Amino acid sequence: MSIQLHIHSSREAAVRTVALEMATLIRNKAHAVLGLATGATPIPLYQELVRLHHEEGLSFRQVTTFNLDEYLGLESTHPETYWNFMHRNFFDHIDIPAANIYLPSSHVAESELVSHCLAYEEAIRAAGGIDYQILGIGRTGHIGFNEPGSPADSITRRIHLDAITRQDAASAFGGLEHVPTHAITMGCGTILAARHISLMAFGEGKAEIVRRAVREPVTDQVSASFLQNHPCAHFHLDPASASAL
Ligand code: F6R
Repeated sequence: MSIQLHIHSSREAAVRTVALEMATLIRNKAHAVLGLATGATPIPLYQELVRLHHEEGLSFRQVTTFNLDEYLGLESTHPETYWNFMHRNFFDHIDIPAANIYLPSSHVAESELVSHCLAYEEAIRAAGGIDYQILGIGRTGHIGFNEPGSPADSITRRIHLDAITRQDAASAFGGLEHVPTHAITMGCGTILAARHISLMAFGEGKAEIVRRAVREPVTDQVSASFLQNHPCAHFHLDPASASAL
């Protein structure tokens, strides 16, 4: 097993390829289950899927989605919750029923944290497991918010965000002091249970961590390296993010 590399001519070409794979799945499987990511990387993918919905009749009425992660401690009205991000960038523009959309909660009480996370795992299982998982990669090598040290078999849980991850989010939050310290994330094990995984990484800033994930031995210091042991993990790169391979 090894990661299958796709080095596209541009990020637009990468996004078109991934969107087409997702559309094919959705058209061919009655109840497709998608694992979705937030961040800058998948925004053009969501734009392309919205275009396919409006211009080519792609319907999400039968689709169920599970997002990878959510910040903890934000009011539901906060613009940076991943719930709001996903609605703003994707769900508000397609025909997916609200009941089919799953994200971890941004404001779950401490006493309910464990049961909330276990219920998320159970909901994924009850939906039949994830058919197609979208991932980005953080500069710490995280997938979801599985920061260095996350075990390969970890499940959905609360995680302390790495300092680099918080720095990368600082501008969106108007300063480091406003970035949450914790999040809920699917575990590495949750992600690795997906049947097909497409990780997208664009730009020179991702080149070194992509190289470590693909070329270095598997290590819990780079969660994305666990994808080397997945039977169907694909990296969709642009020339810049592939430049250190
Ligand atoms: C987002 C997520 C993260 C991001 C990663 C890259 O739901 O789980 O792993 O995919 O931090 O973020 P961007 O795309 O902003 O570079």
